[in-house]
Amino acid sequence: MSTNRIVIFDTTLRDGEQAPGAAMTIPEKIQIAHQLARLGVDVIEAGFPISSPAQFEAVRRIAEEVSGPVVCALARAKSGDIDAAGQALAGSKKTRIHTFIATSDIHLKSKFADARYGETIEEKRETIKKMAVDAVKRAQTFTEDVEFSAEDAGRTDLDFLCEVVKAVIEAGATTINIPDTTGYCISDEYAELIKHVITCSGAGDEIIFSTHCHDDLGLAVGNSMAGVLAGARQIECTINGIGERAGNASLEEVVMALAVRNDHFQLETSINSKLLSQTSKMVSTFTGFVVQPNKAIVGRNAFSHEAGIHQDGVLKNRETYEIMRAEDVGQNPEAIRLGRHSGRHGLFSRLEKLGINVAIADRALVYDMFVALADRKKEINDIDLYSLVDQQSNLPATPHYKLEHFHVTVGSGKQPEATVRIVNLRNDQVLEKAATGDGPIDSLYRAIDHAVNEGHDLISYNIRSISEGADAFGEVNVLISYGGPCFAGKASSTDVIHASAEAYMNALNALAAHRADEESIQFVGSGIMQAFDSGTA
Ligand code: KIV
Ligand code: ZN
Repeated sequence: MSTNRIVIFDTTLRDGEQAPGAAMTIPEKIQIAHQLARLGVDVIEAGFPISSPAQFEAVRRIAEEVSGPVVCALARAKSGDIDAAGQALAGSKKTRIHTFIATSDIHLKSKFADARYGETIEEKRETIKKMAVDAVKRAQTFTEDVEFSAEDAGRTDLDFLCEVVKAVIEAGATTINIPDTTGYCISDEYAELIKHVITCSGAGDEIIFSTHCHDDLGLAVGNSMAGVLAGARQIECTINGIGERAGNASLEEVVMALAVRNDHFQLETSINSKLLSQTSKMVSTFTGFVVQPNKAIVGRNAFSHEAGIHQDGVLKNRETYEIMRAEDVGQNPEAIRLGRHSGRHGLFSRLEKLGINVAIADRALVYDMFVALADRKKEINDIDLYSLVDQQSNLPATPHYKLEHFHVTVGSGKQPEATVRIVNLRNDQVLEKAATGDGPIDSLYRAIDHAVNEGHDLISYNIRSISEGADAFGEVNVLISYGGPCFAGKASSTDVIHASAEAYMNALNALAAHRADEESIQFVGSGIMQAFDSGTA
């Protein structure tokens, strides 16, 4: 490879979202996609359209609304998947279809055990190669930009991998991804693998080879760096390293490794590193995945010096203990904190700087929510703002139920008790109920259940603090189900009982909407994994 330009392929919205519990709503994905465009990624993998109506809709809207990066959709090597990807991408001119099929013997023997794929491993390999070629050719009918991934390449027989790679290049693939799907490879092995595939493919500079590393052994970033030294010119990565199991290579880490050690790599990206921390906060807020304080680049402690000897050194010369500047990765958030006296202009210009687009039609509501928050919280920081906008954008368009009032009593020696007043907005019926429970939230949820009377189970309830200080925001995430898909509800407030009530109501409203319209696209859950598990081919 002669070029020194690295293509940054962000898969936060696809592989990142496959992390258990990281499901995002469509408005959240669109906000993140806009932010990724501002950050300067080259490719946004927006989702896996065949896996669920919600995935299809997210890809369709991102393709239509987000400009700048190439918008990519994932598809197994199956005609239905490829057609769904092509249709979801139809609204954009810069598109890529990313098709994949497993190539390792272990995958072939288990996922392609059925005799229709062949009896022997040799026959199965022939079938897989043909499916890969057919998929690439079909994808080409939608876009010239076609990426092929040999799933589990890290454990694939080298000769067979080369055969498949040559065949898909011949069929028209322009990017070849070599995933270490299971995070099994050690860095020098992965580098050898990339070097070998590039050489044996006989491809010229027009073909880009890509890394895609998982972090099961904590080597995802190291392996990606080894991959580019071996000739790969695309890195697939996610914000905060979220992804399947232990996650993917973290975008902020690979980008800053390339920037800080430019002397070593001599490779460039188009990322505006000053937006890295902001993007990390947005993804953390929307997914509910906390960034550990010691996380490289974007962690809260990544630039704080605790030991006296370090503090002294940094005061004399920052370079004694710092290899990059906090401000270069956006770790010096503007000191301006918003509060009750900040006007509309202050609020919306701050949101704009944070990469949040609030539609004109939604501004009055967002401002009202901001004022209500400012009454409860002295200073409003960036995370509070992400959370506020997130709440607004996820309000159901036409809620079925509205919680008008709740009251919870707790005290020592007394069983917690809750009363609620809920309005059924479809028929204006007022539902008032009371219940006792094991604790304040339990009694509140029981009272809501009595009032709403929709059969369902509470699958999970999570609460966390998402900003700092005594008046920090508590964010509650709940998941409910009635035996089929799961429905998520999220809310945040300085009052955790209030956040718990609203999160539950949001989940109930999502369930009610789904029941009213079985075709609803509002469900979240295991669509992607089901698609992966169901035979793959
Ligand atoms: O890890 C993997 O193999 C994947 C493929 C779909 C590229 O995510
Ligand atoms: Zn992956």
